[in-house]
Amino acid sequence: NGEMVEWTGKVHEVYSPVCIRTENGLQRKLIGTYPVCTEKEALAALDAAVAAYDNGRGQWPTMSVADRIKCVEEFTHKMIQQKDIVVKLLMWEIGKSYADSVKEFDRTVEYIYDTIDALKDIDRQSSGFEQEGGIIAQIRRSPLGVVLCMGPFNYPLNETFTTLIPAIIMGNTLLFKPPKHGTLLHYPLLRAFQESFPKGVVNTIYGRGHSIVPALMQSGKINVLTLIGSSKVANELKKLHPKVNRLRAILGLDAKNAAIITPSADLKLAVQETVLGSLSFNGQRCTALKIIFVHKSIAEQFIGQLSEAISKLKYGMPWNEGVMLTPLPEPHKPDYLKEIIEDAKAHGAKVMNENGGTTVASFVFPAVMYPVNNKMKLYREEQFGPVIPVVPYESLEEPIEYIIDSTHGQQVSIFSNDVEELSSSIDPLVNQVSRVNINSQCQRGPDIFPFTGRKDSAEGTLSVVDALRAFSIRSLVATKL
Ligand code: G3H
Repeated sequence: NGEMVEWTGKVHEVYSPVCIRTENGLQRKLIGTYPVCTEKEALAALDAAVAAYDNGRGQWPTMSVADRIKCVEEFTHKMIQQKDIVVKLLMWEIGKSYADSVKEFDRTVEYIYDTIDALKDIDRQSSGFEQEGGIIAQIRRSPLGVVLCMGPFNYPLNETFTTLIPAIIMGNTLLFKPPKHGTLLHYPLLRAFQESFPKGVVNTIYGRGHSIVPALMQSGKINVLTLIGSSKVANELKKLHPKVNRLRAILGLDAKNAAIITPSADLKLAVQETVLGSLSFNGQRCTALKIIFVHKSIAEQFIGQLSEAISKLKYGMPWNEGVMLTPLPEPHKPDYLKEIIEDAKAHGAKVMNENGGTTVASFVFPAVMYPVNNKMKLYREEQFGPVIPVVPYESLEEPIEYIIDSTHGQQVSIFSNDVEELSSSIDPLVNQVSRVNINSQCQRGPDIFPFTGRKDSAEGTLSVVDALRAFSIRSLVATKL
């Protein structure tokens, strides 16, 4: 409710994926602590958001669009002043390289300004009147209520803000819980929130999701749930809401994006894009390429070139120049990756590249696994890490069948220079996923494009204009002439 709360309760210790040498070997470095709220504090924050919304009568939901924009501009200005510390914390807290951390910050600022521009456009259009059948109507975009916003660890700033900003700028009030890995970096922004928005508009809570979020959902006071995370968690949370049919959910969930590399593909390009698509931020992106189908006739050549390209990638600390492979923030991840690599080996796959899967503390060197088949965990599980499963295929029907059968439906990449091959596969693919990439990796941007997924991959559409629509409802003031 616009107040910093003095904390005397339990704290969570944050250990960086960046390790230091101790007498017990390499250990994750303690870089800070944050409060572990109990249900009591979380519910008090929720009450502040509910009071600020005041059933749509609050200062914020009734404020003019122009004034809300001013508050967001003021916040952004203050946020930019915190860039250095936020970037530093991105590196230390989640191990993101310096270049990618700067990109995450800049992309977020750009997203906010794009959102402001888009809202001005929407407002200009909707401030007009429409007349039909003896009725004149003013069309407005109205807020939905109280939003619970939870972003992911891999884009703790950017993806949190791709929901937080449109949610508040549309007049909703908000409860915001930063991700477990990626909490500290929000601390420098708290003062900016406090100074830029009326009390109760943005309420930040910390702690273990599983011990505070259920009570928030059970209260029935959340109108919009927005989560970038797993479909399992999203489904569990939705069920807790007493009036689930009144809850709007805007969700970015699981994905297992496939690449299909056909014999007509430009192999050099396919290798370059596979490296970027599978290994940027160590494969910890929802849009990462998580399974590669390669035509049998070119599989050996592709794997040779892929392994060579991987051997040239630079690994090191997030602040090392040109580094691509960095330590992994989730402490369980190296063991999990080892387990799926072993499982694939037990079912007949081999690690094809030198040092593939080698683990040192929180680093895992990328592993190319081949030939992967449907008996392996890697075939269906979302690895969210630097392991690249390669599946040989004979007929294009095989990867297309895989995508149709999948419970995921985010994106697919197809590498081909054969027009007939492309035209026959695009329609079946575009009916399964929300974006088909031709001769390029999967990715979210440019952020002006709609970002969503089918099946278990998403609910609602994000990215600038779509997000403004997602966090509001069109309503009319209609007058009979
Ligand atoms: O992790 C999921 C993100 O939406 C991926 O975004 O494709 O820009 O890396 P990106």
